[in-house]
Amino acid sequence: MRLETERLVLRSWEQRDRLPLATVLGDAEGRRFYPKALTADEASAQFDSILKRQTEHGFCFGAAELKAGGSFVGMVGLGMIGEPLRSALGGSPQVEIGWQLHRSVWGQGLAPEAASAWLNWGFANLPLDEIVAFTFEGNLPSQRVMQKLGMTRDPADDFLHPGLPEGHPLREHVLYRIARP
Ligand SMILES: CC(C)(COP(=O)(O)OP(=O)(O)OC[C@H]1O[C@@H](n2cnc3c(N)ncnc32)[C@H](O)[C@@H]1OP(=O)(O)O)[C@@H](O)C(=O)NCCC(=O)NCCS
Repeated sequence: MRLETERLVLRSWEQRDRLPLATVLGDAEGRRFYPKALTADEASAQFDSILKRQTEHGFCFGAAELKAGGSFVGMVGLGMIGEPLRSALGGSPQVEIGWQLHRSVWGQGLAPEAASAWLNWGFANLPLDEIVAFTFEGNLPSQRVMQKLGMTRDPADDFLHPGLPEGHPLREHVLYRIARP
């Protein structure tokens, strides 16, 4: 798997990405809308689980690196939605799009650039009527990316993340959708 945009290479994971990904997943600021920043061991376990999904599904949130210089900037891509999340989304969405970039590259429009290429790939290669994205209702930067991609939110689709316990401050989530063009 390899896609190119104006400034990025989007590709499958390789073992050399394990430590750079841990830097993204371990950053407290970058993880402020997640339950926690990951320790090195937790990030390494997540990397193994990403490699497994890549093998099982043929795609997953993939690696993103700068064309100029080749530095790793984070992950962007498509992911299969498993249970119980799918039920919380009303049962129909199958594939989500998502992103987590290194803080040093925020604000340059890299997430929408990468995600736009992934949306095109998804609709060209997968039999999907729609692709969704979701995040904590307070994660406005991520919602800006969704809006820049032309995704839309119906407040009736807002949901409580089933992976978080009752009363958790990050439980309230918003859902954005984009239909096959
Ligand atoms: C969400 C994220 C991927 C956006 O990536 P990006 O490449 O910076 O996207 P953009 O440059 O298009 O900026 C999107 C919005 O982020 C916000 N933003 C930009 N620079 C920022 C910075 N330095 N600090 C905080 N927010 C910033 C702005 O609201 C911006 O919207 P605008 O362009 O209308 O001003 C990135 O902020 C990130 O990785 N965040 C942490 C992980 C995360 O929350 N992922 C989503 C989980 S669902």
